[in-house]
Amino acid sequence: MKTIWTMAAAAAGAAAYGLTRPSVRATLREDLDTVRRRDPAATNGLVSIVSYPGLHAIWAHRGLHKLWQNDSTKVPARLLSQAVRTLTGVEIHPGAQIGKRFFIDHANGVVIGETAEIGDDVMLYHQVTLGGTSMAQTKRHPTIGNNVLVGSGAKILGPVVVGDNSAIGANAVVVKDVPADSSAVGIPAKVRPKKAARVGAESELPEPLTRTVGAPTYTKYPEFELVDPAIWI
Ligand SMILES: CC(C)(COP(=O)(O)OP(=O)(O)OC[C@H]1O[C@@H](n2cnc3c(N)ncnc32)[C@H](O)[C@@H]1OP(=O)(O)O)[C@@H](O)C(=O)NCCC(=O)NCCS
Repeated sequence: MKTIWTMAAAAAGAAAYGLTRPSVRATLREDLDTVRRRDPAATNGLVSIVSYPGLHAIWAHRGLHKLWQNDSTKVPARLLSQAVRTLTGVEIHPGAQIGKRFFIDHANGVVIGETAEIGDDVMLYHQVTLGGTSMAQTKRHPTIGNNVLVGSGAKILGPVVVGDNSAIGANAVVVKDVPADSSAVGIPAKVRPKKAARVGAESELPEPLTRTVGAPTYTKYPEFELVDPAIWI
């Protein structure tokens, strides 16, 4: 019990410290904006902060990924990632490389392997696996491009590449590369041009908000320094 209170106090202290930094606040706002754009049910930022395990998992991962860069902190990173898994139901290996505005909706049962690479604006639903098929210590997990949606229950296995703007259907099992602007559905997944590409429709995703953070104003997504909110979560 004492340990839990100590951890809670440390997290609260780190959160208070983190919030004094404009870049941390900017990252937090961008994350909340992503939730709002990706989930029509998300209407309240405070509720999102408290109740989205997908957010908690990515915040934690950003910190743990930094620990992973240093040989002396690899073991703590791994152990802490397992604690995060227990709390969120999301297992992201600290070695995984994940881009900006990543979002996991209904986060639970998600597994992302060590050598997975994920671009910007990627969204996963629950029960997604970005897994390996080899025991060799090489690149053995998928590479996911920018603006990719991975449906619930989908498994993407091996060092395959999913191209930009593609969608993986719910429950699909992907074992081969998926070209850009495609949909892949079924087991094993069959590739076809994505519906939006077929009809030439624009994305239905709402535009990101313009926000003012501290002194500078940023519009859409600036290349601001990504400082890890996981330091304080
Ligand atoms: C694949 C998906 C992204 C749609 O992509 P799309 O390019 O717009 O594809 P379409 O809707 O035009 O469907 C293309 C074909 O694939 C089929 N299909 C769509 N999703 C499928 C799926 N998950 N599994 C199997 N077949 C699927 C459609 O029936 C259609 O078949 P048809 O050509 O014989 O009629 C979408 O169906 C999907 O699975 N999204 C995931 C959503 C999700 O996980 N939600 C969870 C919320 S909690």
